[in-house]
Amino acid sequence: MNADFQYFSPCPRGLEPALIEELLELGIKNPVSTAGGVSYPGSLSDCYAVNLHSRIASRVLLRIAQTRYRNEEDLYKLALAQRWDQWFDVTRTIRVDIAATRSPLRSLEFATLRVKDAICDQFRTVGTERPSVDTRNPGARIFGYLDSDDFILYLDTSGEPLFKRGWRLDTGEAPLRENLAAGILRLSGWVPGETLLDPMCGSGTIVVEAAQRTLGIPPGSRRRFGFENLKNFDEALWQQLKDDAADNAPDGEGIMKIHASDLSGDAVALTRANLARAGLSTDLALKIAPKQVDARHIQAPDDHGVLVTNPPYGERIQLRATTSDDAFFSELGSTLKQRFTGWRCCILSSDLALQGKLRLAPSKRTVLYNGAIECRLYEFRMQAGSLRRKTEGE
Ligand SMILES: C[S@@+](CC[C@H](N)C(=O)[O-])C[C@H]1O[C@@H](n2cnc3c(N)ncnc32)[C@H](O)[C@@H]1O
Repeated sequence: MNADFQYFSPCPRGLEPALIEELLELGIKNPVSTAGGVSYPGSLSDCYAVNLHSRIASRVLLRIAQTRYRNEEDLYKLALAQRWDQWFDVTRTIRVDIAATRSPLRSLEFATLRVKDAICDQFRTVGTERPSVDTRNPGARIFGYLDSDDFILYLDTSGEPLFKRGWRLDTGEAPLRENLAAGILRLSGWVPGETLLDPMCGSGTIVVEAAQRTLGIPPGSRRRFGFENLKNFDEALWQQLKDDAADNAPDGEGIMKIHASDLSGDAVALTRANLARAGLSTDLALKIAPKQVDARHIQAPDDHGVLVTNPPYGERIQLRATTSDDAFFSELGSTLKQRFTGWRCCILSSDLALQGKLRLAPSKRTVLYNGAIECRLYEFRMQAGSLRRKTEGE
């Protein structure tokens, strides 16, 4: 298929290289990273495939037009010059969002209003009606991006952001966004079939993502997309892509190697329920069987594997484990040293002192953003020799 369009997929900051890797695996050519996302050329089929299969992208935005600008009228003119009626019907409700870095414009709200007016005015030039605005559940979303000189107009093909997979039952305690969990899994180097453990699983985001990857369940298989509302929607092509994914699903034997636990019984129940809602058959969901265990007393379920988790911070730990933050991580560090030789342990935390508290030296530290919170993904390789040396030298 021809690469007729230019797309931009935003993602959690820090995951741009992981998203590029994923897009290349999906057959996308020449993806280019910018802060907070990746641009790439592609066909309509690529657009559907990224929406269906990407675990890391937050959206797939289709670039419509671009211009240099100095004021709001330049934005209005660019939006007015587009044939929006060829993209979506006037009966679709719309929503416009504008983001900016270093823009000289004083009010983004006013800029957004001008772009919305231009879209409505363009519909009036080709008919008698104008579309209505619906900020909660719009039929078509338009994004604008302003830097210091340029204005880019995008049409959103995703609708709800892609981290909304459609399986989450309840929010649980500070759940990770699904695409951040998927990105962390990729950065950890875990591959389906390898033993995986999340000992502080909360609502189970990390293990659900891992289970879906193991079974080849596309993250977008249980939801609708914005492109289904566009005039160029090719239903046969979309159905074909979904059928191909179902035909090529792996047998998922590695599901037995996914393990989850949490100190909280509610979290364990939530993880179980979320697994069942994420497209796993009851049989398979039962095989993961999350357990109620204090992470400080966890046993390694295999002689090697990958531990991926994001612990709670500060007061929450005191509440759960009736101990101080420092004591909790010191005990957790000892457990990892004693019982997890041969494992790679990847811990996401905003605590810059974490490695000291665990008394472990990280082999890698990656800066990631959990929403606006700057975090590190610490990787600790638990090797027998080096640990003994470190413990002796302490
Ligand atoms: C930040 S949440 C994890 C969120 C999870 N990644 C998700 O996406 O839902 C931290 C979890 O650690 C659990 N926890 C707190 N203290 C614990 C302990 N001592 N042992 C095991 N789990 C603990 C909490 O119950 C909570 O579910």
